[in-house]
Amino acid sequence: MHFSPHAPVADNQFIKSKPAMLNQFYGSTDVFPYWVADMDFSIAKPISDELQRLVSRGVYSYEFIEKAVFEAISNWHLRRHQITLSPEHFVQVPGVLSGIALLLRQLTDKGDAVMIQSPAYHQFSGLITKAQRTLIKNDLQLIQGEYQLDLKGMEQQIIDNQVKAMIFCNPHNPTGRVWTRAELADVVAIAQRHNVLIISDEIHADIIYQGNVFTSLTQFESDNIITLLGSPAKTFGMHSISHGYIYINNPDLHGKIKQHISDLYLDHANALSSYATVAAYQHGDAWLDDMMAYLQGTLDWINDFIKQHIPRLRMYQPQGTYQVWFDFSGLELSEDQLTQQIFKQAKMGLTPGAWFGEQSGQFMRMNIATKRENIMGSFELLKQALTKGAANGAIQNHACQQADIASASSSDLAADASFGKSNNSCC
Ligand SMILES: Cc1ncc(COP(=O)(O)O)c(C=O)c1O
Repeated sequence: MHFSPHAPVADNQFIKSKPAMLNQFYGSTDVFPYWVADMDFSIAKPISDELQRLVSRGVYSYEFIEKAVFEAISNWHLRRHQITLSPEHFVQVPGVLSGIALLLRQLTDKGDAVMIQSPAYHQFSGLITKAQRTLIKNDLQLIQGEYQLDLKGMEQQIIDNQVKAMIFCNPHNPTGRVWTRAELADVVAIAQRHNVLIISDEIHADIIYQGNVFTSLTQFESDNIITLLGSPAKTFGMHSISHGYIYINNPDLHGKIKQHISDLYLDHANALSSYATVAAYQHGDAWLDDMMAYLQGTLDWINDFIKQHIPRLRMYQPQGTYQVWFDFSGLELSEDQLTQQIFKQAKMGLTPGAWFGEQSGQFMRMNIATKRENIMGSFELLKQALTKGAANGAIQNHACQQADIASASSSDLAADASFGKSNNSCC
């Protein structure tokens, strides 16, 4: 067995378990943390063996192994995604978010419009506004129960707002969509027509469920710059011990960005992270395959449970990522009732949809990268909470719900704002 869902430690220094944060977001420390997008699983043995080897050396001389890192990443992409990447086109960055922050500052100007597809990983809006760029949201469309890109809206907004760049997330956090080659081709064509830079965040690229194929934006011919950002963090649970990388096809742009990052001395990655990255990409296949099978089993279990016990809860089947996006609106509860039942009674620390820009207040994201028994216990509690709530006459008339929603949405925004201030790039 390469992969074990049983993690040896739970530590309340982990962001997701910090009592102060749980109190802030859930009003209690008695919740199971499904909100941060990291995993509870022990990392693959080849990675921990490599870290132990480095620690046991006891000497930490200057050591940069960039070339070996880029070769390992290239080989991984060829093996896992049939993508040929040239090691010379990479640039190393401290992390994916810091990479995007750098690119925005280097390649756009203050005041420039930068687009995201909403709902979107909440740190994207912070990255844009903190760089004093103008945030433009293009909402995804729900068509026949599936999230789709609004390509018409995208092009119109690009024209209307003179958009200069787009942060594009593939696979998409929080909806779990894996964009198809055809969808990506449309995005690239629009970007080319209007000279828009695409910054493609592909950090979730390896978490793809059966029946779906990941396509990287590096695979499109375009002078109009396509940049890949990735890291082994999500794939191998190396959240606090990894760095990120950028891939740029265009040689001029590659040179410019490499120089900028080097001028800031940000390309000197920690050797422990670098060796761990190489070990992960060289020897992590079997562990990842096992983990994906485990996650698929968990998804299947949730699907069955919901169908049987909470049929009005809508789950968007993720094509990729270990985030699951839920719509609770079918339960016809006010936001207050919903948070009471989910956070307080079922003790599920889900991420409120408002963090991702979802306005309805009825959406929540759940990280399923934990032991399945935790999830089973939580859903059982949720079922009981909803049954009890219904028996207590929790379902109110529509007018009353609307009033609740209006008053609750301001507190969501407050939580969102305070989260933004804490600057954690974790979830
Ligand atoms: C889409 C996306 N990009 C970036 C990150 C964070 O990446 P890093 O920790 O390398 O900055 C996350 C973390 O959840 C994410 O979901």
